[in-house]
Amino acid sequence: MKYSEKVMDHFNNPRNVGVIDQPSGVGTVGNARCGDIMRIYLDIDPDTKVIRDCKFKTFGCGAAVATSSMATELVKGKTIYEALKVTNQAVMEALDGLPPVKVHCSLLAEEAIHAALWDYAEKNGIVIEGLSKPK
Ligand code: FES
Ligand code: FES
Repeated sequence: MKYSEKVMDHFNNPRNVGVIDQPSGVGTVGNARCGDIMRIYLDIDPDTKVIRDCKFKTFGCGAAVATSSMATELVKGKTIYEALKVTNQAVMEALDGLPPVKVHCSLLAEEAIHAALWDYAEKNGIVIEGLSKPK
């Protein structure tokens, strides 16, 4: 399997791995078929709604690590509304592509970010336009 240099870089040197204490929102998603799990933590500024920090942990494969690393980099510094536009498509493009059999792994990061945003919105009684309830 051939991976881009950017994928290899984010796999070998993943950004934002870890946990945030007392996060604004947490999202955990899994792929029921393989059991791979992804968890995303968000620290959100209550006034500006800017994502100040974002960390991830995963039991997923190298492609899941690389896509989460890139996804967390892309949402940091964005507002919660802008972060919704960081789709797995956008993450894959930023990584110069993924082999087709690995595309489903990149969905874990997007789903977990959405789940964390949902958690944040619920805790704070706000509605984020365009965000749907995680499965
Ligand atoms: Fe399961 Fe990639 S995260 S194979
Ligand atoms: Fe499970 Fe890829 S095989 S996420």
